[in-house]
Formats: sequence, structure tokens, C-alpha cells
Amino acid sequence: MHETSQPALGATAAGLAGTWAWRLRLALRPMHRASAIALASFLATHLLGHLAGLAGAAAHQSVLETLRLVYRQPLVEGLLLGCVLFQVGSGLTLLWRGRGQRRGGVAWMQAISGGYLALFLLVHVTAVWVGRFQGVDTNLQFAAAGMHTPPWQWFFGPYYFLAVWALGTHVGCALYWNLSEPQSARALAGAMLVGLLLAACLVALLAGGFDGLDLRAAGGFRDAETPTRVLAVMGGGASFG
Ligand code: HEM
Repeated sequence: MHETSQPALGATAAGLAGTWAWRLRLALRPMHRASAIALASFLATHLLGHLAGLAGAAAHQSVLETLRLVYRQPLVEGLLLGCVLFQVGSGLTLLWRGRGQRRGGVAWMQAISGGYLALFLLVHVTAVWVGRFQGVDTNLQFAAAGMHTPPWQWFFGPYYFLAVWALGTHVGCALYWNLSEPQSARALAGAMLVGLLLAACLVALLAGGFDGLDLRAAGGFRDAETPTRVLAVMGGGASFG
């Protein structure tokens, strides 16, 4: 299968799911939740897999290559991209439908974190695919390139930090609505705290803040010019990784 097949498959799957939901007048919220559950297994391994970078760039690369054996199967990746597109589309629709009716802090946290995640997912996945079409290995060095190309660290640091924290917050809000007191408040606070800690850890890792990860050493950036070259390949000197 050619690499363009996965995005095409993903767009078809998301289009069919959306059309099916619309024709059968299915409630969008349960479908948004179902697609989130399907995405969750990828996202959990995706983010926890990045923690392998704590043991160095080579350890991260070997974990990434093992995970790719599963999610880079064309059918799996097509369905993953379908879930991403459906998640973004259904989330933005729910956001729009709920305008003017939101009451209380949790409803607003859910809306704001969801809106940011939709934006992040579109930019992040597009950047990964543009990189792949350009022949770049979209590994940890690719993700970290912006953090090592001043002044882009001021964009990429908050961009990644908010994404991981927004994910924890969004999951926490979903748990809040589906549990009863006092578990609901605890689940929300716990998920936000896990998101916050994971976000801080991953951004510090990308910035090269842990001893294990020297992105400029062999196997990482081969020289000081590498991050700039990755950004240049991504187009016009700026990229969104
Ligand atoms: C510090 C945080 C993050 C980093 C460093 C990061 C990095 C990466 C990298 C390097 C890839 C390419 C993987 C490959 O080539 O096999 C990727 C793909 C992807 N990431 Fe992330 N990511 C982060 C957070 C997130 C978050 C928060 C989400 C979702 C909310 C997310 C969703 C995805 C998706 C859906 C893909 C596409 C998989 C594919 O089509 O092959 N990522 N990410």
C-alpha cells in the first residue's frame, strides 16, 4: 500500500461515520465518546512511549519502532486517522452546538481543552504527514527540532505543554460527568494533575533537560544545524511538529 492510502482511508472512514451518524440521527456525543475510547489506546502508548526518551534518544527510537510495527499497519493507521478526523469534526460540532448553554467551570474547561485539542491534533498530525512525505523520520528529534531553533522554543514549549495538559483535563471532565460525587471531583483533579506532570516532563525532555537525552549526540541531532534543517524541510523555515 502506498503511504497516501492511510490519509485517504482515514478521510473515507471519518466521512462514512459522519454521514451514517447524520442519516440515522445518532446522538453525536456517544459517538464522540466511542471514537475517543478507540483513540485512547494509541494516545496512552504514544505519550508513555515518549517517556522512553528519559533513557536516551536511542531507547526512544527503539520503543517508537516497536510501536510503529502496530500502528503503521496501513489499515490500523487509516482507522487511527479516521478516528482523529471524526474526533476533531464531532468535537467542533459539539462545541458549536453548546454555545450559549454552557454553565459552570467544568463545562467551560471541557470546551476550552477540547477546542485546543482539535486545533493541536489538526496541526500535529498534518506536520507529521508533511514530514513523512518529505522523507523525514518523524521521530523524537523531529518533534524536538523546534525546541532547539530559537526563537521557536517559545512557540513549541507551550504548544506541546498545553496539548498534553488539555488531554488530561478533557479526559478528567469526561470522567467528572460520568461518575458520582465524591469520585467525580477526585477523578477530575487527578486527571488534570497527571496531565500537568506528564506535560512538564515531556516538554523538559524535548528541551533536552534530562541527562539521558542528548539530542545533539550521535543518534540525535548530528550537528547544531540539524534542527534548523528539519524545520527548513518542513517548509519556509518554520514547522509545527
Ligand atoms: C509532547 C507531546 C508530544 C510529542 C513529542 C509527540 C510526537 C509525535 C511524533 C514524533 C509523532 C510521529 C510518530 C511516528 O512517526 O511514528 C506523532 C504522531 C501523532 N501524534 Fe503526537 N506527540 C505529542 C503529543 C500528542 C498528543 C497530546 C496527541 C493527541 C491529543 C498526539 C497525537 C498524535 C497522532 C494522532 C499522531 C499520528 C500518528 C500517525 O498518523 O501515524 N500527540 N506525535
